[in-house]
Amino acid sequence: MLPRINFTETQAYKYLSNHYIDVAPRHLKEMFRDDPDRFSKFSITFGDILFDYSKNRINDTTKALLVQLARECQLNDAIKAMFTGEAINETEGRAVLHTALRNQGGEPITVGGKDVMTEVKAVLAKMQAFSRKVIGGEWKGYTGKAISDVVNIGIGGSDLGPVMVTEALRPYKNHLNVHFVSNVDGTHITETLKRVNPETTLFLVASKTFTTQETMANAHTARQWLLDSGASPADIAKHFVALSTNGKAVAEFGIDTQNMFEFWDWVGGRYSLWSAIGLSIVLSIGFDHFEQLLKGAHAADDHFRNTPFEENIPVIMALMGIWYNNFFEAETHAILPYDQYLHRFAAYFQQGDMESNGKYVDRNGMPVDYQTGPIIWGEPGTNGQHAFYQLIHQGTKLIPCDFIAPAQTHNAVGEHHTLLLSNFFAQTEALMNGKDEDEVTAELEAANVPAEKIKHLAPFKVFEGNRPSNSFLLKKVTPYTLGSLIALYEHKIFVQGIIWNIFSFDQWGVELGKQLAGKILPELRHDDEVQSHDASTNGLINQFKRWR
Ligand code: F6P
Repeated sequence: MLPRINFTETQAYKYLSNHYIDVAPRHLKEMFRDDPDRFSKFSITFGDILFDYSKNRINDTTKALLVQLARECQLNDAIKAMFTGEAINETEGRAVLHTALRNQGGEPITVGGKDVMTEVKAVLAKMQAFSRKVIGGEWKGYTGKAISDVVNIGIGGSDLGPVMVTEALRPYKNHLNVHFVSNVDGTHITETLKRVNPETTLFLVASKTFTTQETMANAHTARQWLLDSGASPADIAKHFVALSTNGKAVAEFGIDTQNMFEFWDWVGGRYSLWSAIGLSIVLSIGFDHFEQLLKGAHAADDHFRNTPFEENIPVIMALMGIWYNNFFEAETHAILPYDQYLHRFAAYFQQGDMESNGKYVDRNGMPVDYQTGPIIWGEPGTNGQHAFYQLIHQGTKLIPCDFIAPAQTHNAVGEHHTLLLSNFFAQTEALMNGKDEDEVTAELEAANVPAEKIKHLAPFKVFEGNRPSNSFLLKKVTPYTLGSLIALYEHKIFVQGIIWNIFSFDQWGVELGKQLAGKILPELRHDDEVQSHDASTNGLINQFKRWR
């Protein structure tokens, strides 16, 4: 059982509340001036990842107190409980073992007395053999042609991870075209089917539960499309495989369970890209690269499990987040990759973080009286700079940011990468230092702007700075470093959930909307006016019926 500790009642929290009063008015610029060791003190190198958290509004005492907070919340015991397969997803009675999926150390991991590693390895071997056949052209469609296109049909965790990783690892791609259909909006499947040929398309129906409305609707449409093209029901087996925990529902859909890649209830949807849900990744970049992804994640797991909190990247990431969320009252956190291939990274962790820690009920079943998970958002740089960075620099809200960039590019075109990285470095520096009135005045004077105009313009051109950021400098985005980076973020979410005393691995909050949609659906199947809802919902439904 996970500890039940209200972190706002710990000693560390009390000290931090007082300490905040001292630190909040201090400017990062001064902190750097006062402490020449700041960068070496507040940065951690892990393999090919340099994590620099020195541009945060902290000093040695802040760090020590935050680490004390983690200790008082019994984080060590919680980490152990997760890695050893305790049922820490208590509201669903499940273990949380995505780390077992990438356990490369040969260590047995038991759930209910059974070593899960045997099954994990068997499914990986099945994925490897299958992907070899498909990539090698040995797996044929119903007219005897090799597969050219793969369509992953899934949503949420059965989509976002594979999309993010296949995009991030495009340089490792083979000849197969991989598509993703998630939205129940018929446009998504229709537009995708326009681009593929039924004779050479393989559908992966990716759903942990195999009951998700969107996925099932898209899968049925795809199946009908295949049949309409001239395939027989017996040909379905050549074009459909399932990635699921639910063998019964897979069989009912008409997919041979021979063609099912299994995973288990101890894999959360938003932590499932490492499981059979990653088959689209395997088909896109080959099994060896997928294995590298797992190895990188495993290295991060080892780091998280075995490194003292002071030097532990996910723990520090989490503590920085808590410092802003619970003391500075920051409401959001931006993830800003300076790498076009990582363009879905923020979207991926929007689910990862917000579905995990967007909870107001604590582990005792009581409403919390403090803030929990932040709003996660972000877009790749430099595009974001020309869109929303204005607010980060000069808005009224404090927005802690993660900047991520690779030192080496996969596409060395002219000076592009140097231009990109100059922006990456400039942004965190600008956010931290800002620009004071003297600097603004000196700049305008140098440009021969008349004194009267300088007086008028100066306030708008001043940047107060003192805006915090983390930087992740990666040597290169490879399957291995990407695996590590994702796992570091996953563990950050875990640590925050432990400290906020919430359950990070259920998602009851998405159920109500699903239930209501289920009730409304039959009402939309006829044209009679509805009166069963509130006036707004009735009004909207009835207008929809008049217009459709
Ligand atoms: O609705 C939320 C959710 O349950 C996510 O947690 C999950 O990733 C997604 O739906 C898809 O679920 P499934 O893989 O069972 O189709």
